[in-house]
Amino acid sequence: MKQFALTKDILLRKESFGGLVINRKTFMHKEISQTEYEFLNNLGKCAGYLKPAILLAQNTTGKKVKYHKFLRDDIIEEKTTDEECCISIVNALTSPLEIALYPTLRCNMSCKFCFVKNVNKKDNVELPLSCWTDVINQAKDMGVFSISILGGEPTLYPDIISLLECANESGMNITITSNGMNVPQEVLDAIVRFDNVVPVFSLQSMSELNQTLMGGDYHRTIETIEYLMEKKKKVRVNSVYTNQTLEDFYGIIDYCILHKVDRYSVGLYMDINKSNKNIKNHTFEEARKLDEELKHYVSSRHAESDFMVSIEGCMLYTGYPEYEHDIRRLTQYEKIYYGCRAGRTKLEIYANGDVFPCICFENSIQPVSNIVNNSLEEIWKNDEYMKILRKGLPMNMECEKCGYSIICNAGCPAVRQQIHKSFECEEKDPRCALHSEVTE
Ligand SMILES: C[S@@+](CC[C@H](N)C(=O)[O-])C[C@H]1O[C@@H](n2cnc3c(N)ncnc32)[C@H](O)[C@@H]1O
Ligand code: SF4
Ligand code: SF4
Ligand code: SF4
Repeated sequence: MKQFALTKDILLRKESFGGLVINRKTFMHKEISQTEYEFLNNLGKCAGYLKPAILLAQNTTGKKVKYHKFLRDDIIEEKTTDEECCISIVNALTSPLEIALYPTLRCNMSCKFCFVKNVNKKDNVELPLSCWTDVINQAKDMGVFSISILGGEPTLYPDIISLLECANESGMNITITSNGMNVPQEVLDAIVRFDNVVPVFSLQSMSELNQTLMGGDYHRTIETIEYLMEKKKKVRVNSVYTNQTLEDFYGIIDYCILHKVDRYSVGLYMDINKSNKNIKNHTFEEARKLDEELKHYVSSRHAESDFMVSIEGCMLYTGYPEYEHDIRRLTQYEKIYYGCRAGRTKLEIYANGDVFPCICFENSIQPVSNIVNNSLEEIWKNDEYMKILRKGLPMNMECEKCGYSIICNAGCPAVRQQIHKSFECEEKDPRCALHSEVTE
């Protein structure tokens, strides 16, 4: 099904619950009914009527627009043509919101915390550029909102510039995440040129600890960041929460604010490989504490700044037991979005074209879909693993009692699969500390 862009910035998507209007720049979104979707879709197609459609869509920017006056029964007829028929996928969006690409698994670093099991393995296959551009074009047609280019170190992929060019032209939101060490000059210049491409650099500390964790001197990443900033390119920074102290994070925050880095995020460490030595794995409660400490630091030390720091990762809500029952108020879209996104809002494509619902299944499943053999749309509809995840996995009593079960479904299915080697097991994700009193 071809999804529809109302304007360059406003994406209109048909969903099983009606539709979604998304502002590409702000990610503000509005859930709409089936009727509203039809109305906008028809108006959008008909150039003369585009203006009211845009007005309605602008509601997603927070502007108050009285759009219901456009929704008179006599001007809208509920119908879908076969071509546009929405295949309702229960518990998932009609097409992914986000797709991660891993064009190469080669890397010039050897981070102790890296979750990519096959980094630098000798027999890794790399697909040619044409496969990736094909995927990007399919994703665009399906109304995908964003593409993340990861790896390995993606800047080592031989055709990375052409890949970025294609992604940039698609109009989707593109990020490329890099360790920023020795990025070739022509790749940096391409990143500067491509307006829709936002670079994200991985940095763990502005001290020796970066060398310990990543195997590289942080100054090299900083040089890359500063080159791009000089060229007025927006840059983001990301850390993984492992062995850093608060001072390490404060150092990066001070740097980001001083140098006007666009955004800083700290990702929760996924210990999915179980092979990482001397790496600290924090609880969800500790992640919450870190979030509070970092926000407090920004508001007290940089009161004049509107800089945002965010902690990112799945299941962070388990660190907030007090909101457990508020979750019932979530809309249909929010229930899909805030839970496990694997095969519901996202998929990930490995260097050889294999498709995972989430990269965290890399150790525990053998993918059945590959982008060389199947279209993205077929994969999204029919991939066996995605179907299993959408059905929901069995839960034990602890989870059945839990308010978060509406979105959580007993924790991360990749962690559970890794431990139990089966999707049938009722045991919950052992990292969750909620409701353990039920079985005690
Ligand atoms: C796998 S890397 C690939 C891109 C590039 N080589 C880099 O490190 O930026 C993508 C992102 O995942 C993060 N990452 C790596 N291992 C992780 C782990 N075990 N848990 C959470 N994030 C991790 C990296 O820090 C990076 O921001
Ligand atoms: S730089 Fe990225 S891909 Fe390479 S080892 Fe580190 S986290 Fe993994
Ligand atoms: S108790 Fe179960 S459902 Fe509730 S948050 Fe923990 S793992 Fe998720
Ligand atoms: S499989 Fe686990 S890590 Fe992946 S999206 Fe789902 S909860 Fe998150």
